[in-house]
Amino acid sequence: MSWMGFLCHPVWAVSTALLAVVVRLQRRGRWDPQASDVQLKGKTAIVTGANTGIGKFIALDFARRGARVILACRSEARGTGALQEIREKSGNSDVHLRLVDLSSLDSVREFAKRILEEEKALHILVNNAGVSGLPRQITEDGFDVCFATNHLGPFLLTNLLLDLMKRSSPARIVTVSSVNHKKGRVDFAHFHGENLTYYMDHVYNHTKLHNTICTNELARRLQGTGVTANSVHPGIVMTEVMRHYPLVIRCLFKLIGFFFFKSPEEGAVSPIYCAVAEETEGITGKYFDSDCSLALPAPLARDTALAVKDFEICERLTSKL
Ligand SMILES: NC(=O)c1ccc[n+]([C@@H]2O[C@H](COP(=O)([O-])OP(=O)(O)OC[C@H]3O[C@@H](n4cnc5c(N)ncnc54)[C@H](OP(=O)(O)O)[C@@H]3O)[C@@H](O)[C@H]2O)c1
Ligand SMILES: *[C@@H]1O[C@H](CO)[C@@H](O)[C@H](O)[C@H]1NC(C)=O
Ligand SMILES: *[C@@H]1O[C@H](CO)[C@@H](O)[C@H](O)[C@H]1NC(C)=O
Repeated sequence: MSWMGFLCHPVWAVSTALLAVVVRLQRRGRWDPQASDVQLKGKTAIVTGANTGIGKFIALDFARRGARVILACRSEARGTGALQEIREKSGNSDVHLRLVDLSSLDSVREFAKRILEEEKALHILVNNAGVSGLPRQITEDGFDVCFATNHLGPFLLTNLLLDLMKRSSPARIVTVSSVNHKKGRVDFAHFHGENLTYYMDHVYNHTKLHNTICTNELARRLQGTGVTANSVHPGIVMTEVMRHYPLVIRCLFKLIGFFFFKSPEEGAVSPIYCAVAEETEGITGKYFDSDCSLALPAPLARDTALAVKDFEICERLTSKL
């Protein structure tokens, strides 16, 4: 049998299909948002990066539950498209677009200022926006662009909105991290683009580790305020997250993903679970896996002393002083 003939043998097709079915069955979470009747009428939620991928489905879910939803997006055109789609599909017209570029601290400050002026309350903040695979680029603030977008921008945004959330308590902060955080390392020179390898997901992995570390420290600082903070892995999801990778890698991701990865709608389930489910009320400082179960984050994300230090450094880097 030729090499190709061997690869195309029906045995392979059948076993791949079977494996795909098994994977599909087990990747379904233990929680079904459509079966949950939690209502968000009278609640306000912000979802960053809500114009596509996982974020769009998180925002759609909140809109369907009757929340006032703010889509925090960087592109007016892409944001407007999602705004119309979410309003249409949910029948909720209380959905709004506000522009923010999370890689710029000034833009984050502008955005937060407007939110504080316009919103009377904020019950849910989902830090969802993120990038991966960008080449080396230093922002106007002097940070690596991936660190600025995935960690420092959302970190500042969260801190600027904290008082509003405390006044609105009970309130929940959900940060979409990734299982990749387990491969990350902490080196404070990374923030400024030093000591980084710009290849594949190296930088991304570090940023996701900081997401989980700082979310845990934030939760400790928020004890007793009625505001909770957790991080979550959405699963491996077919979104635009690979858009900055080489074509070959993207095709491979699509091909394998077609069988084995989650759809963006499925990827939104664990973040939605953290943000709205009755079972997760009051839970704070935890990391959720993509099937909605509580999981232990990497050892570095459980090191309290390191978390205190990381949080303080990020505070200093994002403050104007
Ligand atoms: N997909 C996965 O397998 C996977 C796995 C683990 C974790 N995650 C995490 O899940 C989250 C959502 O990712 P996704 O997979 O849905 O990716 P995606 O389809 O690429 O969506 C990312 C979103 O973030 C926005 N964004 C990027 N840079 C921004 C900036 N500087 N300012 C404001 N918004 C910005 C994008 O806006 P534009 O469209 O305008 O660029 C887009 O709305 C990310 O935090 C990602 O790290 C994803
Ligand atoms: C880069 O990493 C090395 C070894 O991990 C460390 O000694 C050095 O201080 C780092 N560079 C900067 C600029 O911090
Ligand atoms: C980033 O994390 C993923 C998932 O844990 C891993 O497969 C990959 O090898 C990591 N990349 C690096 C450069 O460590």
